[in-house]
Amino acid sequence: MVMRPVSDAAVERAAASIHQPRDPNTLSNYNAWRTKHTKADYEIDFDAKRLKGIIELTLERLAKGERKIILDTSYLDISGVAIGGLRAKYNLASSRIEPYGSPLTIEVEERHASFRQSELTVQIFVQTTNDCTALQWLTPEQTTNKKHPYMFSQCQAIHARSLLPCQDTPDVKSKYTFNIRSPLPVLASGLPTGARDFQPGKDGKPGTLLYTFNQPIPMPSYLFALASGDLACASVGPRSTVWTGPEELKDCQWEFEEDTEPFIQAAEKIVYPYAWTTYNVLVLPPSFPYGGMENPQYTFATPTVVSGDRQNVDVVAHELAHSWSGNLVSNASWEHFWLNEGWTVYLERRIQAEVHGNEQVRHFSAIIGWKALSDSIAQFGEDHEFTKLVVDLKGKDPDDAFSSIPYEKGSTLLWHLERLVGKDKWDRFIPHYFTEYKERSVDSYEFKSTLLAFFESDAAASKKLNELDWDTWFYQAGFPPKPDFDTTLADQCYELADEWQALNEGKSTDFRPKADDIKDFTANQSVVFLERIQTFSEPLSPSLVEQMGSTYAFSSSKNVELVSRFYTIGLQARDQSVYKPSAELLGKVGRMKFVRPVFKGLMECDLELAKDTLKNNKDFYHPICRNMMQKMLERFEKGK
Ligand code: BES
Ligand code: ZN
Repeated sequence: MVMRPVSDAAVERAAASIHQPRDPNTLSNYNAWRTKHTKADYEIDFDAKRLKGIIELTLERLAKGERKIILDTSYLDISGVAIGGLRAKYNLASSRIEPYGSPLTIEVEERHASFRQSELTVQIFVQTTNDCTALQWLTPEQTTNKKHPYMFSQCQAIHARSLLPCQDTPDVKSKYTFNIRSPLPVLASGLPTGARDFQPGKDGKPGTLLYTFNQPIPMPSYLFALASGDLACASVGPRSTVWTGPEELKDCQWEFEEDTEPFIQAAEKIVYPYAWTTYNVLVLPPSFPYGGMENPQYTFATPTVVSGDRQNVDVVAHELAHSWSGNLVSNASWEHFWLNEGWTVYLERRIQAEVHGNEQVRHFSAIIGWKALSDSIAQFGEDHEFTKLVVDLKGKDPDDAFSSIPYEKGSTLLWHLERLVGKDKWDRFIPHYFTEYKERSVDSYEFKSTLLAFFESDAAASKKLNELDWDTWFYQAGFPPKPDFDTTLADQCYELADEWQALNEGKSTDFRPKADDIKDFTANQSVVFLERIQTFSEPLSPSLVEQMGSTYAFSSSKNVELVSRFYTIGLQARDQSVYKPSAELLGKVGRMKFVRPVFKGLMECDLELAKDTLKNNKDFYHPICRNMMQKMLERFEKGK
């Protein structure tokens, strides 16, 4: 497949949309001041469901004479500001600028001792509110052992500003100190420096300990993370632990103990040594809205990766890969998100190939990715802005642009480049790029120029790279050229799907479905089989859905990758026997990857049941997921 070249007008429009500062999704004046260090002194109040304390930012002045510091905030209560300990004038915008929040403007005056200095510290007295979009609070009843409350954060893309006032842009990196007081164990995105200083509780409240963490590697605000609850931990490798509820610990340990260290070593071989000392995984309650989130020190993960078959550990390979792509080298704005996710998917698949010692698994994973890419392009429409590799997000909410496109189009470009210059040469570029931008942020233009410069003295590679149609790769909407996949591992899945298609079309065939059909399949091969069925022009008949369900026992699987896809097929077929189980699944799993297709299918089949499911589980869902479902529902009802 050849990509349709992008028009000159589209390139001109894209060029005109390049702006300063380069992140359009922050209201902070980060080109005038730059955060060097962030200290969060917070107490976790489970009763009031809020964090309260002091945020101290150390800021470097970049613009001479600049007296105003503008920070991002969203739904925060601010009760006072000081500069170097001396009270300062501030203004919190009274109306929100959607979707970016309320800028907090702080005035630096001559009476402040640091007025003329190049660095100063501001202290902000702050508490979060009920509208906070970065936190989910669970009551004891919502946890597995029903004993203690639980809370966790999710800041990517622009939710850090609802946890703390900050320059909420990946173009700014800061070191961090966390001093978090809680009645329950705490994790934060830093290295633990101890728990100490017990304070007894008053008025029947439990006492609290101070948990402290230090992050010496500068990191962007979206990697700020906290969790607190009844947490236990077990070792899963020489530099790795897994954290979760005490009841789930053994299963989680089993799931990760075989692969974590081999993954780290494979990644180190491809890029360079792991910089963050420890790599740990926190397995969250089922309402965690993502598969994984690459918070430094502690990857946050959905419990759906603990499927009892080690078949979803690719999520660990992915989040681990972010330790290089994203966490050390960060996209400069969400318009260049592909540099985070495309590189991470690329590395994740290289890690898998390295660990399994073959390239077929890499191709197989890319085939699954291509289906996700097709679905995302279909969902937005082929000409949509958000189907481009480099997107225009001025005035937009990056959460709305989120899809598989930056992941798959991005990794496809990197794979294309690997093949273009040759694997050996490309493999020398990988550590070069990650060294060049280590502890910095990077945009697509810098990526391109660093690549061209690296190969400048290599005439053959240089010629190919200069002849590549970069504008089309960056700015053309829709599909990139399809790589030549090795389909060895997928072929058996396609063949089985073909048999079902023949049955569905009433063709005479001697195929009789039996459990053995899939006995040698890995769970991901079953995923490819189910996804193939989803692409049939004629949906499967309800009776065949039921036959598939009883023969292959998908709905009793512990692997939600299978269950959700099977229900989606059932919903497409309007098979009433899956309506209730689908609604039940939506009450148990809040990972948006699964919620999105199942909720969509359920709305189309039984709108009342879908609405009731959302209503009955309102408190179960994370605010980000609930918002997404509400938007889906509104759009669906409007379109009817
Ligand atoms: N960083 C992302 C999750 C994310 C992206 C959260 C944008 C909020 C905004 C994470 O690394 C990720 O990609 N997770 C995937 C896992 C997968 C690709 C293995 C997910 O959640 O499905
Ligand atoms: Zn990712």
